[in-house]
Amino acid sequence: MPKPHVCDPALLDTDLAGKTFIVTGANSGIGWVSAHQLAKQGAQVILACRRVSDAEARIAEARAELPSAKLEARELDLGSLASVRRFAEGFLADHDRLDGLLNNAGVMNSPQGKTVDGFETQLGINHVGHFLLTDLLLERLKASAPARIVNVSSCFHDLAMGRKGDIHLDDLHYERRKYDGWEAYAQAKLANLLHAKGLAKRLEGTGVTAVSVHPGWVRTNLARNSMPLWVQNYVMRPVFRLMGMIEPWEGAQTSLFALLDPSVEQHAGAFYSQTGTYRDKSCNAGGWPMTSPNPQAHDDALADELWAATEAMIAKVPSPKAQAA
Ligand SMILES: NC(=O)c1ccc[n+]([C@@H]2O[C@H](COP(=O)([O-])OP(=O)(O)OC[C@H]3O[C@@H](n4cnc5c(N)ncnc54)[C@H](OP(=O)(O)O)[C@@H]3O)[C@@H](O)[C@H]2O)c1
Repeated sequence: MPKPHVCDPALLDTDLAGKTFIVTGANSGIGWVSAHQLAKQGAQVILACRRVSDAEARIAEARAELPSAKLEARELDLGSLASVRRFAEGFLADHDRLDGLLNNAGVMNSPQGKTVDGFETQLGINHVGHFLLTDLLLERLKASAPARIVNVSSCFHDLAMGRKGDIHLDDLHYERRKYDGWEAYAQAKLANLLHAKGLAKRLEGTGVTAVSVHPGWVRTNLARNSMPLWVQNYVMRPVFRLMGMIEPWEGAQTSLFALLDPSVEQHAGAFYSQTGTYRDKSCNAGGWPMTSPNPQAHDDALADELWAATEAMIAKVPSPKAQAA
């Protein structure tokens, strides 16, 4: 397997004092390592998590090493648009700047199901929740420019365990076709990539740069719907490492590079990939940035149609404020 890409140590030593970042799904895996590193560099970091108690436990552990770390846990359930609105409202009331939004939270290969708002689980959590969150925070990002939005996609936006990444605008929620957990994950991760592309187009000239990333095959809890975690973490760990699985610290490198490296400003809408598995094996070494081998990742019309379809989904779930008016 090719060696994982890593950030220049100097990048992870730059002073981030005075900057504020939000990391979704920051209580575990890649999100926690990313949040911890940003705080280590002096940033204020909001851990946006559905299990706040777990995020608070991470913060308490971190305090031993970083007593003055500016880490704050706030509740965010991306499977509920009401929760997304509550989170954004609370953040905007309490924080006057936002330098970086890391849309990191995700679920993979979930059993067939719907979010409380009626969206297919993986599309709803991984894409729709992040789409609304980003929209609600956009003005604060623009006011804090230069700022970044990083969507954590996956190489599975191209090929997920043999299923091609494909956006089915005619049946986004698996109401007419047979459900397949890997195919639904591929669709949601392609949506993450197209969302970043759509943001880049709409944010031209604002100083806010949006990109998407593949973090690598990382040893985290994400695999929980696909195998018992003890198999990944103990029995198969050495074999998986030889096959390309990396540790969370290595998995956070691409997100941190996309959030912090000055060169990223020149590549709005681009896809940054750690080592991965793609249809075109010449892409497996990854690249910062890299051209996705999935033709749909370059389809601007599809990106616009998905954008409109997502806005329509969100519009069907009226905000509590609109209901009260
Ligand atoms: N690990 C890999 O090999 C790999 C490869 C490619 C892409 N990715 C992407 O990397 C990102 C981070 O995943 P990870 O590998 O670090 O896995 P992880 O350890 O399972 O982290 C996922 C995070 O997302 C959170 N989350 C799930 N559903 C949520 C919801 N409804 N609302 C708010 N937060 C929610 C989880 O919270 P709970 O702890 O409460 O479940 C957890 O904090 C994901 O977007 C994933 O698709 C990972």
